[in-house]
Amino acid sequence: MKGLILSGGKGTRLRPLTHTGAKQLVPVANKPILWYGIESLVAAGITDIGIIINPETGAEIQDKTGDGGQFGAKITYILQTEPAGLAHAVKVAQPFLQDAPFVMYLGDNLIQDSLDSFLQRFQENRSDALIMLKSVANPSAFGVAKVMDDGQVVGLVEKPTVPPSNLALVGVYFFAPTIHKAIATIAPSPRGELEITDAIQVLIDGGQRVDACQLAGWWLDTGKKDDLLAANSIILDDLTLATNGGHVDEHSRVTGRVSIGAGSRIIHCTIRGPVVIGNDCHLEHCYIGPYSSIADRVTLVEADLEHSVVLADAKVVGVHHRIVDSLIGQRAHLTEALRRPKALRFMIGDDSQVELTP
Ligand code: DAU
Repeated sequence: MKGLILSGGKGTRLRPLTHTGAKQLVPVANKPILWYGIESLVAAGITDIGIIINPETGAEIQDKTGDGGQFGAKITYILQTEPAGLAHAVKVAQPFLQDAPFVMYLGDNLIQDSLDSFLQRFQENRSDALIMLKSVANPSAFGVAKVMDDGQVVGLVEKPTVPPSNLALVGVYFFAPTIHKAIATIAPSPRGELEITDAIQVLIDGGQRVDACQLAGWWLDTGKKDDLLAANSIILDDLTLATNGGHVDEHSRVTGRVSIGAGSRIIHCTIRGPVVIGNDCHLEHCYIGPYSSIADRVTLVEADLEHSVVLADAKVVGVHHRIVDSLIGQRAHLTEALRRPKALRFMIGDDSQVELTP
């Protein structure tokens, strides 16, 4: 069994945040989303993993993620030169996959469930494909399945205007090598992509075995700001340990589960967990409220924030309003001249400069 993680694509939906970076590397609780997928595969015993990358962000993904050694896996990077669809990515990966069955994992998805029971079911049933479904409020934003009362999938449609059900396709799929033949028969969809949903539909129409399971736990498609903040909160909720690798001065109050990275200095601050703070950060005269993740080398001086994610090397200085539900990009600088409103809500991209003036 091999693993294939799709980490190419366009990443347009998190712009401007990912205008300059891979959306799959955006951290959730200070760990890139992509790494959760790798860990999940490895936990299910799948260690031979291919990662699809694109020409724009591939090098960054490769630099950060390495050869897989840190995860106990062997990673092969596979370049897809254009974002021509999920089924196209499988086509490009065929020399890596050969005739092995595989799990395809979308690099911007996060699921709570472990893969073990699904893998077991896929292998026992000798399915051609096993897909995962989750009932959602906005099925039109996803691939949607039409399922009979007995659980049999009879149809799949990508981003339908009139969805046949509220069961969305989760971005984790199990495939037998028969999927390659199905992909060879499909044509690009109206949005110009080779859709994996179309390839699975070919399997269904050809009478091959396509099974579906519903996810019991949460699932997050982290392509958008609110989804990312939700993912961050959920992962922080699971944070069990309070650790301190930095320095907290005697004027600071740190309560709840708060993890502070090496070399970080906390001066005159109040921090209420769950919160993660990366390495080499400087926090002075701040309030950091629950469900916040602060990445490496961030400077926060006279700042007040909660339920927010601050990416590496960002600076927030002298902002005397509470920052909530915000995502602050790498190297962004946020400074303020005067005081006032009750709350501010931001999505600030990499390299932005924001100054609040009266
Ligand atoms: O998140 C679940 C949804 O993912 C499913 O419900 C849909 O059926 C499925 O088509 C997919 O829809 P998205 O529109 O959300 O896919 P997106 O373009 O965001 O791509 C998902 C991941 O795959 C992302 O990490 C980028 C990567 N990708 C995407 C394309 C189009 C590639 O590596 N290559 C590609 O050509």
